[in-house]
Amino acid sequence: MKGKFITVEGIDGTGKSTLIPSLKTCIEDRGWEVALTTEPTDTWLGKNVKRGFTEEISPFTETFLFLADRCEHTKWVKAEMERGKIVLCDRYADSTYAYQGAALENLIEDPMDWLIEVSKHIVVEPDLTILLVAKPETVIRRIAPRGEWTKFERLEYLRKVNENYLKLAERFGRIRVVDAEQSADRVFEHAKNLVHECLGGRKDG
Ligand code: TYD
Repeated sequence: MKGKFITVEGIDGTGKSTLIPSLKTCIEDRGWEVALTTEPTDTWLGKNVKRGFTEEISPFTETFLFLADRCEHTKWVKAEMERGKIVLCDRYADSTYAYQGAALENLIEDPMDWLIEVSKHIVVEPDLTILLVAKPETVIRRIAPRGEWTKFERLEYLRKVNENYLKLAERFGRIRVVDAEQSADRVFEHAKNLVHECLGGRKDG
């Protein structure tokens, strides 16, 4: 691949959407073209995933909706990388491993292993995953004024999701943990260093 794939992960309220535009600028400053993207996507598949947020559906249905959206999204990601772009993605497969891993916990054995296995043929391995970690109590306080509560934002659930994310970080070297309890500036400094490490020197340098 000519380009690279960088994903940003973490529970809601850890500051992904504050961080991503600044990271985009700093990657562009190094001479790269950036393709910004997000999951769930804006396609009809992503719209159906989002519809599932407010419907009573089984955790399996929820899982397969996220996977269907990802399957098509992965093709787009690969194409953009082939064009030499840095694809910067707000959530990707690790979200499914962490969130649906938590949702499926009492239904199957080792849900994260299962999810990683079924994803094998439909994901592209990121070159770098920036994992923003903050306590669920902190993020709940941050997102409360937004007033947009979904089933993914309950305290106990978020604790489990955070645990899953940290397990993934132990397992995959590409996942780098950034302390999101710090100020936005410090989070950006740390994330920027990780991106520089991943991209090496300037593209044209
Ligand atoms: P959305 O409101 O679209 O994004 P955000 O709150 O991050 O701006 O909701 C995404 C929600 O979907 C988020 O709470 C995490 C959840 N999610 C999963 O459970 N599994 C997944 O694979 C993905 C991509 C997201």
